[in-house]
Amino acid sequence: MNKNINMEILASLCKRRGFIFQSSELYGGINGFWDYGPLGSELKRNIKDAWWKAMVRSREDVVGLDATIIMHPAIWKASGHADGFADPMVDCKDCRKRFRADQLCEEQGKQLIKEGSTFTLPEGTVCPACGSKNLTAPRSFNLMFKTYVGPVEDDSAVAWLRPETAQAIFAQFNNIYATARQKVPFGVAQTGKSFRNEINPRNYTFRSREFEQMELEFFIPPDEAVELLCGHVATLADNPDLAGAPQPDWGWEVWHRYWVEQRLAFYRAIGLPEADLHLYWQTGDELAHYARACVDIEYAFPFGIQELEGIAARSDFDLTQHQKHSGKSMEVFDEALKNAAKAKTPDELAAFRAKTVAAWTARGKTAEDADAFLDKLLEGKYVPHVIEPSAGTDRLALALLCNAYDEETLTDAKGKTDTRTVLRFSPAIAPIKAGVFPLVKNKPELYAKAREIFARLQRRWNCFWDEAGAIGRRYRRMDEAGTPWCVTVDFQTLEDGTVTLRERDSMTQERITLDALVAKLDEAIG
Ligand code: GAP
Repeated sequence: MNKNINMEILASLCKRRGFIFQSSELYGGINGFWDYGPLGSELKRNIKDAWWKAMVRSREDVVGLDATIIMHPAIWKASGHADGFADPMVDCKDCRKRFRADQLCEEQGKQLIKEGSTFTLPEGTVCPACGSKNLTAPRSFNLMFKTYVGPVEDDSAVAWLRPETAQAIFAQFNNIYATARQKVPFGVAQTGKSFRNEINPRNYTFRSREFEQMELEFFIPPDEAVELLCGHVATLADNPDLAGAPQPDWGWEVWHRYWVEQRLAFYRAIGLPEADLHLYWQTGDELAHYARACVDIEYAFPFGIQELEGIAARSDFDLTQHQKHSGKSMEVFDEALKNAAKAKTPDELAAFRAKTVAAWTARGKTAEDADAFLDKLLEGKYVPHVIEPSAGTDRLALALLCNAYDEETLTDAKGKTDTRTVLRFSPAIAPIKAGVFPLVKNKPELYAKAREIFARLQRRWNCFWDEAGAIGRRYRRMDEAGTPWCVTVDFQTLEDGTVTLRERDSMTQERITLDALVAKLDEAIG
């Protein structure tokens, strides 16, 4: 349905109706930054609320965090962002435009050549703006925005705006673990702003320089701990019920797949059709060296199938990095694990050790590392592993706008045609849940009744009062805002208390009592 949407028409509707404005438009705008207007801010709030409800409030095993955007710069050294969070960029020496080298190659059906940390453009790459072959060699460009803390702008005051919300969760792991009364497996969720100095912001809000993320770090035991505790490690081949409650014998592979399924269910629940959602499994050479698996949940945007969210199995990389760089332990202690190890016979322990060392060395780790890990594990101690579902709020808002946009041709009784623009948001996501209209504004009794009904609905949901123009025009304005229902208060309301309820998608109208209306909205909005 959406494949033919013209993004310029969608952007123009978003501006006209107050969803999205160019940041600093008054002064000519600033590339890669966007503001959300009255309807857009409600839409984003609903998205974040739906995410928080699904990921935190409706679970017993996830808690929240709200950390600062600027953190100690050592965090970015430990995470690898200070040295490695870079994109390769090229400049056209003729027209002076700048591009991301990997995207440039991809658009021309080529692949950027990578040897170690050096990039080379393949033969015949041209500037997409002017066609020149006179391009610089690709250079690495760190995407983090730099700032200074305090009045003196010297090297000791350098800090970075966070390029992801995730690192604060790792850096605060010990405090959260000490206070949340959770045991592994459990997760920590955070939503908030992230900043990346993207070389080429593009596709409207899709790739921005300031954006919001919704991230979960879900901490799990290493498979070796599961084996000691349960006697085996469940894998996907064991066909676990991923829709059911998580089980203590799940290994990382099952937990990873579980979160992929949870996240797909979330996207379907807020209205993205199954057919427009795709999974892209990163292949061996695309995976970061510490990652066991990473899958992107993609959406069929009008400009192509693109990433909404990445779900990575990141092993114990992040906490181990912070342990090394901070010098502070990031281990948890599990009494049951210690007891399970104690209950093993020496032969069983020797076999377990030999199997673990073999598995670790097959993954490119050293036998010494495996032995050190096992020594701790048998005492009940380990650094948790993590599964990370990481979503972009702005990308999801854009996907929901693309999905909702529709132009419908209507033919009236006289055969006259007209086009209706409508945003078919699901009720839970719609910025305005109901428009409330007095049929006329010059009848005090009717007007007062309509205000009373508006006040009652507004207490529960974001509603919109509109008394201007013909009812048909008021309906159309609400259609463009994506409002699922319109409630008209008329003379009959004064007699029997019923109102006219008009439904956005079918445009059908029914008379309904106020109590029935409230029950209907309650059920649909959830
Ligand atoms: N902590 C992992 C992480 O940040 P990522 O794949 O770089 O992973 C996660 O980012 C999500 O954040 C992406 O799937 C996307 O939805 C969103 N995102 C990343 N860069 C973005 C940008 N420049 N503009 C808008 N959203 C972005």
